Amino acid sequence: MKEIKNMKVVVAGEEHVKYVDEINDAIDEASKQRGTGIARRTFEYLASKITDGKAVIALHDDKFAGFCYIESWGNKGFVANSGLIVVPKYRGYGLAKEIKRKAFQLSRKKYPEAKIFGLTTGLAVMKINHELGYRPVTFSELTTDDQFWNGCKGCVNYDILERMDRTKCLCTGMLYDPAWEKTAKKNGSIRKRSLLDIAHKLKPKNGFKKQKSESVKKKKN
Ligand SMILES: CC(C)(COP(=O)(O)OP(=O)(O)OC[C@H]1O[C@@H](n2cnc3c(N)ncnc32)[C@H](O)[C@@H]1OP(=O)(O)O)[C@@H](O)C(=O)NCCC(=O)NCCS
Repeated sequence: MKEIKNMKVVVAGEEHVKYVDEINDAIDEASKQRGTGIARRTFEYLASKITDGKAVIALHDDKFAGFCYIESWGNKGFVANSGLIVVPKYRGYGLAKEIKRKAFQLSRKKYPEAKIFGLTTGLAVMKINHELGYRPVTFSELTTDDQFWNGCKGCVNYDILERMDRTKCLCTGMLYDPAWEKTAKKNGSIRKRSLLDIAHKLKPKNGFKKQKSESVKKKKN
């Protein structure tokens, strides 16, 4: 993170419940500005996230600077990191990155087998998720939990989601599957995926030569 002195990013606890209204106001303000119309969470809901140890808060000295919480869906098969917010004057310092990193670690610790996912239209979040190892996926790979999708009802684009029978909308779905770590470990290291790696994977082993079919090969022998 670039320089902001005395900034701390921690898993929230009881002592942070006093920030709930401020957090909610900041989320409200941002969603008004972005025109997404995402519904305000209730005080009780955010407070329970905080007291259950399922939220990450950033504080500059004792001033609220940023927040995010985790929620499990589909019988704990999936976890989403939601409600990400950084107070405008602290934006551009890498704070969201640090909050998401912490929320990711918390999700892995609390739900080690769960797939971690998110929906976003924002470039910043896409970049951060990509760095954490998420991949873009179609909605078919995300939770089918109705309660999760009901959360989209406050969004101005909900009619699109409904019309598309939940298969697509304006948001990009991004997913991290812990099963990928097992594959990476088997190969002896944490897999670092870059576009170059993916491009190499996509390249046909024998170049773009016309492949001889098995029957032609057999005839020759
Ligand atoms: C989105 C938001 C959380 C980003 O917070 P931030 O602390 O400024 O983000 P960071 O400084 O950690 O930036 C992370 C990356 O995103 C990029 N980024 C940040 N804001 C961006 C923006 N508005 N547009 C494009 N890229 C952006 C940064 O350059 C950085 O990329 P890099 O790794 O290539 O350098 C903040 O702008 C915010 O609270 N917005 C309103 C609420 C919101 O949109 N929440 C997300 C809901 S899905």
